[in-house]
Amino acid sequence: MKILFVNACVRGEASNTLKLCRAALTTLLEKYPEALLVEVDLDSDRPEPLYPEEVAQRSALHAEKAYDHPIYAYAREFAAADKIVIGAPYWDLAFPAVLKIYLERICAVDVTFAYSPEGKPNSLCRADQLLYISTAGGPVEGFNLGFDYIRALSNVFFGIEDVRCFMIPCLDTGIDIPTTIGEGEEQIRTMVEAWA
Ligand SMILES: Cc1cc2nc3c(=O)[nH]c(=O)nc-3n(C[C@H](O)[C@H](O)[C@H](O)COP(=O)(O)O)c2cc1C
Repeated sequence: MKILFVNACVRGEASNTLKLCRAALTTLLEKYPEALLVEVDLDSDRPEPLYPEEVAQRSALHAEKAYDHPIYAYAREFAAADKIVIGAPYWDLAFPAVLKIYLERICAVDVTFAYSPEGKPNSLCRADQLLYISTAGGPVEGFNLGFDYIRALSNVFFGIEDVRCFMIPCLDTGIDIPTTIGEGEEQIRTMVEAWA
């Protein structure tokens, strides 16, 4: 069993979102001690957007069915995971741009999904569950656009129906952050125990 952690917590160890992710992953590993945890650290990887040269290269590789090429590394890793945890702070009503770049790279035809003759996307991913973890400075109230997008991609392309969000809003409104995050860590551990 492989657990994939996509770490888009741009502030690194200072990130409150990352603290919640670590609590969720600890609980997952307690539940599945035999599991292999693979972390994609987008802060250190710093993937680039797909510029025209790479779009053309990817098309050429696709025509040759050369899916072992490094350009597909993220997509292959995502397709092979059994459970997926994505951590990202709430930025500009969604998430940091580096996560969009990651998503751009995992939406790869014939690696994470394939089109049927009728043009319907069918998943090539193993995962059955995805947990999205975030924190926001203010209220989110109907504009959880990052999660909505992740859920749509998961449902439509990756065939993952069980897509959950754990979000703590209003962290930058003068509340006691360590206490709130401490309570959040307990809540997320309880949630993961019951969910995964
Ligand atoms: C570039 C940037 C954009 C942000 N955009 C929003 C936003 O649209 N709405 C909001 O409520 N908070 C916003 N925030 C505040 C963060 O969501 C909040 O501080 C969050 O808890 C940070 O998580 P972290 O500790 O994991 O980095 C933004 C922060 C930054 C740095």
